[in-house]
Amino acid sequence: MKRKSFILIAMLLIASLLVTACGSKPAEAPAAAPAAEEGPIKIGGIYPLSGAIATFGQSSKKALDLAFEEINANGGLLGRKVEFVLEDNKSTQADSATAAQKLTQQDKVVAILGAVASSNSLAAAPIAQEAKVPMVSSSSTNPAVTEVGEYIFRAAFIDPFQGQVMANFASKDLKAMKAAIMTDANSDYSIGLANVFKDVFTKNGGTIVSEVSFVSGDTDFNAILTTVKNSAPDVVFVPSYYDTVGLILNQAKNNVGFLENVVFLGGDGWDSPALFELAGDAANGHYFSNHYSPDVDSPEVDKFIEAFKAKYNETPDALAALAYDTAYMVFEAIKTAGSADSTAIRDALTKIELKAVTGTIKLNEKRDPVKSAVVIKIEDGKQKYFTTVNP
Ligand code: PHE
Repeated sequence: MKRKSFILIAMLLIASLLVTACGSKPAEAPAAAPAAEEGPIKIGGIYPLSGAIATFGQSSKKALDLAFEEINANGGLLGRKVEFVLEDNKSTQADSATAAQKLTQQDKVVAILGAVASSNSLAAAPIAQEAKVPMVSSSSTNPAVTEVGEYIFRAAFIDPFQGQVMANFASKDLKAMKAAIMTDANSDYSIGLANVFKDVFTKNGGTIVSEVSFVSGDTDFNAILTTVKNSAPDVVFVPSYYDTVGLILNQAKNNVGFLENVVFLGGDGWDSPALFELAGDAANGHYFSNHYSPDVDSPEVDKFIEAFKAKYNETPDALAALAYDTAYMVFEAIKTAGSADSTAIRDALTKIELKAVTGTIKLNEKRDPVKSAVVIKIEDGKQKYFTTVNP
């Protein structure tokens, strides 16, 4: 009898608990929005699809579209589709910041890829950092970019390395003693790279015989080129983007007439088919550092070139290779984290080790990879692999 009443009380208690539990949820409550875990995993991108350095963005976009197509064809990530939300920053800092706001606040992406130009990444990074959304720049090389905070990463080597590669190339390979430097005064990339070159070249025993500056958008370089010519340099270092470099090379040869016996040197910012259109044959005989060359044989490079050619019928440049690697860094981080949570992705990125197209990507404590650079020589209007320099 005692036992029976105990069971009865217990049953009543359970029943009342159930009623309370159901009652706490009003029957007419609107259906909850589907949990984010059920939809596609959204990854944002900030790239210059238009404006001064548009070929950088267009090239990157081709590789990114390929990477997202591949990952979805392979079943997506964590059983979900992966969606790419791409924003055009129009090559400007203001639009880079606006894009970062939109992606973090409105689209609620779990990670951001981009930007390309260091100044543009520097405009977007504080917003991604504040929102705790990991941002991986594919190609920004100024050290300050990842210094913004622990949510900011990159796939490219940094300018203290790239500048050293070109200064040593000038001193040791070209045996240059006198260098001129032409800097874009509005570009963090250009200023940073010029400073490193100057430091290393002078430590090597060389002399900087002239330093001049310009800004992106300038089209007439005759006056500063005359100053440079009069300083009689062996080499002229122009750490800028193709839009200005193409015109500078053209005017140096055709207006100011001093390309004989002078070698122009640059960094990754020279990598664009538009450089040859702007410079014509004035581009021949000069050198720049870069992240990748299609002429280097590796299984990763071969596989990437094959897939890229099959889709676009063209050979990918370094922007494409870096963008592709950046997408796979984030895919890999989501896989190893087993989660599409932004902080889990951030943590997984710090531990990543990826055999990528542009080399093995493993990040140091500053969230920068330590990778080789290649030196490219321009010959017959084409890029020719010259040498590889290891860190
Ligand atoms: N490194 C450049 C920057 O930081 C961007 C760039 C990378 C341009 C690779 C061309 C190729 O601004």
